[in-house]
Amino acid sequence: MHDFTGKVAVITGGASGIGRALGERAVAEGMKVVLADVEEAPLALAAAELGSGGAPVLPVVTDVTSTAEVESLAERAFAEYGQVNLLCNNAGVFCAGTVWDCSDDDWRWVFDVNVFGVANCLRSFIPRMIESGEQGYVVNTSSMAGLTSMPFVAVYHASKHAVVAMSECLHLELSFKGADIRVSVLCPEAVSTNINGAERNRPASRSATGASNDERQAVDDAIDQAMVGAVSPTAIAERTFSAVRAERFYVLPGDDPWVYLAHRRMAGLRDRENPTFMSPDEVPTLPVGMKVVG
Ligand SMILES: NC(=O)c1ccc[n+]([C@@H]2O[C@H](COP(=O)([O-])OP(=O)(O)OC[C@H]3O[C@@H](n4cnc5c(N)ncnc54)[C@H](O)[C@@H]3O)[C@@H](O)[C@H]2O)c1
Repeated sequence: MHDFTGKVAVITGGASGIGRALGERAVAEGMKVVLADVEEAPLALAAAELGSGGAPVLPVVTDVTSTAEVESLAERAFAEYGQVNLLCNNAGVFCAGTVWDCSDDDWRWVFDVNVFGVANCLRSFIPRMIESGEQGYVVNTSSMAGLTSMPFVAVYHASKHAVVAMSECLHLELSFKGADIRVSVLCPEAVSTNINGAERNRPASRSATGASNDERQAVDDAIDQAMVGAVSPTAIAERTFSAVRAERFYVLPGDDPWVYLAHRRMAGLRDRENPTFMSPDEVPTLPVGMKVVG
């Protein structure tokens, strides 16, 4: 998709962080924007700020875990603008803990948002996008966590691996069907957002956390540390739009330790080696040829 002017973007998780930056970028590109988020007040504020220059920005409070709310988001977007050209399935949450300590609520909450949230949006939007006959694009936000595996954040990694697999399947299916809809999977490294406060959106019905406070604190501290010097959401939005323009499926960082870790994992698979831990801080200077264009 080369020209965004006058086209319509729908962005979930649009009230904060990467989603909000995608919204800003969409407005700057001359798009009409539907911002969706479960947090009502930050959503209203983000929509007002993004639309302050006169751009059409429609906030729609939406919990992506609800098939009914996602269906009504799609109805609203198509009723308002007649088409949706860029769907950014971006809403996401995070929780820490070992595979066995994470509770049923931990697993279900993170999968409800990160996996079913994306599936719900695809089920509500893709048929309408195909039916409209307009050129379309889907960007699913995974993470470098979707291409690597680190201890004590298994639920998050598993959910983001699922998003990569769903996106790859979606890309193949749309091309088999001959639909004029392209796909990218966005896999950011550490980005300075409010992700470490994701618990603010955990519903009361999923409140039983399994991981010990010590473990959760240790992971929270590690994330806070990673946020120092983390890339800005604006830079991620710029990377995303340039990938959409180039119709590049994998949207990855450039010379980043996480890219090295993903390559290391793939090499381990190729060579049938068991997984071993390496922290991003321990990654050596990237060998020549490792650069992945972001
Ligand atoms: N920040 C990072 O380091 C990083 C790295 C890789 C991937 N990501 C991914 O980027 C995406 C955006 O996260 P972020 O870092 O901007 O965090 P953020 O917390 O700043 O933004 C996430 C947004 O999603 C919304 N949200 C949460 N649950 C929702 C639900 N059920 N329905 C609708 N909206 C919901 C939140 O209200 C929030 O506005 C997530 O999918 C996250 O996993 C983040």
